[in-house]
Amino acid sequence: MNNFEFYNPVKVVFGKGSISRLAALIPHKSKVLLVYGGGSIKRNGIYTQVIETLKSFDLIEFSGIEANPHYETCMDAVKLVKEQAVDFLLAVGGGSVIDATKFIAAAACFEGEPWEILSKGAEIKKALPLGAVITLAATGSEMNERAVISRVSTKEKLNFASPLVFPQFAVLDPEVTYSLPAKQTANGVVDSFIHVIEQYLTYPVQAKVQDAFAESLMKIIVEEGLKVLDHPHDYEIRANLMWAATNALNGWIGQGVPQDWSSHRIGYALTAQFGLDHAETLAVILPGVMTYMQKAKEEKIIRLGEVVFNLQETTKEKQIFQTIAACEEFFRKMGLKTRLHEYGITEGDLNILVEPVRQMNWKLGEQGNINWEVAREILLLRV
Ligand code: NZQ
Ligand code: ZN
Repeated sequence: MNNFEFYNPVKVVFGKGSISRLAALIPHKSKVLLVYGGGSIKRNGIYTQVIETLKSFDLIEFSGIEANPHYETCMDAVKLVKEQAVDFLLAVGGGSVIDATKFIAAAACFEGEPWEILSKGAEIKKALPLGAVITLAATGSEMNERAVISRVSTKEKLNFASPLVFPQFAVLDPEVTYSLPAKQTANGVVDSFIHVIEQYLTYPVQAKVQDAFAESLMKIIVEEGLKVLDHPHDYEIRANLMWAATNALNGWIGQGVPQDWSSHRIGYALTAQFGLDHAETLAVILPGVMTYMQKAKEEKIIRLGEVVFNLQETTKEKQIFQTIAACEEFFRKMGLKTRLHEYGITEGDLNILVEPVRQMNWKLGEQGNINWEVAREILLLRV
């Protein structure tokens, strides 16, 4: 196991009715900005619950955060925060709303051009405090210090991380996910599964706790994920998927182990250029990364097949092949496409897709050996 230092200060409030705890979680006398998305919270009653609970607070609103939140929209919110002297941000939504709120929190206190937080990794010295009510089990953003923001004008999608943007609290009520469209539920299942994979499917370092935890999370995500589309109002299924998604990316399983993240990084351009949902990009790319990197990842792929998909093939080669096929089949059963051509993307589009990897000179993967040329080879396997 590698050395590590682990810090996660997010207070989690989990379960039915937990939105009613908000008033006690937000510091008294705060001037609160409620940040939300395109209006799903108004249709499913979450908005009313939040407003009721926060009756005694000085509260203003900013709505219209897009899926794959736009830098431009976040900057409008930053203007409002400054004009109104807001001192606490409350995100109510999916990963996009929480990510946007993290960026707003940092950008509102940033001296200089806030885009540099994303494009140059500029240091964040201060951020407004924030809290999160998560409405979509997927990203883990409610309990981590990361965010991904897109700039529409330049078709860029970039991420940043800072301990200053950890939410102070995360409210997780599985019942709020009942209203999710099947597509978004499926996206969340696939995204959280691949978060575990990015931290697990590398090379072994005898990190038994992290490996066993990761394997349990994947088993649960596959089992419950395959049930949830037929049982969208089953509390226990929703609760297990929600807590699994949070644990998939709150730091625990990634401590002291090598991490990959190439499917995620390569995937950003598929969203920025062709508008694919985040999880859709991953379902296409991951089988390519597994296939191309199978030698380097072989021990973990073989174990993944055994533990998560109950595969016992007679040869190493067959076990690896069938494990990759099992992952792809799982994504397809969840209703996601797994090939670029299914989105109308052809070999001729690959150069533009790997351009960010080239431009940023990223060396992706646990070995740092996926440059833009290798990324192109991986995508070529997925046409
Ligand atoms: O905008 P509203 O009206 O809220 O509708 C949203 C949106 O249309 C809807 N929705 C959310 N909760 C709902 C609901 N509809 C009905 N009932 C509910 N309870 O779902 C749609 C998608 O929401 P979004 O927040 O975009 O989805 P998700 O949570 O999958 O977040 C995706 C974003 O997170 C980033 C992705 O890149 C993408 O931008 N990620 C963030 C990470 C992080 N911070 O750690 C890690 C991830 O790997 C990921 O990159
Ligand atoms: Zn993800």
